[in-house]
Amino acid sequence: MNDIVKNLENVSQEALRALEGAADAAALEKARVEFLGAKGRLTELTRSLGTLPKEGRPAAGQAANKAKEEITQAYKRALAALSQAKAPSQALDVTLPGRKPAQGHRHLISKTSHEICQIFAKLGFSVVEGPEVETDYYNFEALNFPHDHPSRDMQETLFVGDKLLLRTHTSPVQIRTMEKTKPPVWIVVPGKTYRRDDDITHSPMFNQIEGLVVDKGITMADLKGVLTAFAAAFFSPETKIRLRPSFFPFTEPSAEVDIACVLCGGQGCRLCKGSGWLELLGSGMVDPALYGFVGYDPEQVSGFAFGMGVDRAAMLKYGLSNIRHLYEGDLRFSRQF
Ligand code: DAH
Repeated sequence: MNDIVKNLENVSQEALRALEGAADAAALEKARVEFLGAKGRLTELTRSLGTLPKEGRPAAGQAANKAKEEITQAYKRALAALSQAKAPSQALDVTLPGRKPAQGHRHLISKTSHEICQIFAKLGFSVVEGPEVETDYYNFEALNFPHDHPSRDMQETLFVGDKLLLRTHTSPVQIRTMEKTKPPVWIVVPGKTYRRDDDITHSPMFNQIEGLVVDKGITMADLKGVLTAFAAAFFSPETKIRLRPSFFPFTEPSAEVDIACVLCGGQGCRLCKGSGWLELLGSGMVDPALYGFVGYDPEQVSGFAFGMGVDRAAMLKYGLSNIRHLYEGDLRFSRQF
């Protein structure tokens, strides 16, 4: 009988040593199976208690329970200790290079708009802005649009109220600025504009930059000079421009300005559809009728104006075929610029 009790004590000691010495989860599990498993050493010993004479059983039983309790507790302690210790792979390695936080940058539209404004700023223009929700008066009326002009139609313009609309161009800021300031006026106006248009080269929301100069003795030569300087700075120093007669209600005379094709340089190719020229913007001499709305004296001053699509300028400069790339927010696209 004493033998069994002695054996139980020995097994318990051995088990404690094995469990406490286990270096990892595998070693711990091996020790658990060896002592506490269904065929483990403690289990075998406990089973053999049945062969003892009756008188010896209670003391041996108590010893077996004590051993089991001790070993089980030791196992739990070892398990807890192991799970707290960090695996080497999780430990802090101070020699690793740091992780840089991702840094954003301007979207191609903002970048282009900013770049265009910078060029005009160097030529002496100030940058001003105006509201995107506009009245019929500033968007059409004071810009000399006749009452039955097609762009005043619901099919063309996004109305938000009776005489309230999303501006269809940045030209209303011409009127707003002239109302507030006396000549000389040299401004560019970047901003969002809206039209009921949606296809591969038109987006219902797009971006324009308006230009307005009103000063003493301004002529069409000034218009051409300023836009030639702009094209040289924005595209390349040799970029040629040409003025084509056109019509806008708020300019007289009016001209469409083309640049020599950025792809073929004027020879004629797929991009310019063989003409050698690409349309860049609308422009003209400020129609004196506008001065009547803002209290300027047409005998004292004259001016020119222009309006260009920022999206279009970016598409031409960077060779983009689809305006949607600019508005879909695909990072694979945006990150290229
Ligand atoms: N506002 C015109 C448009 O959106 C563009 C334009 C043409 C602006 C001629 C001007 C201009 O200032 O003189 O189509």
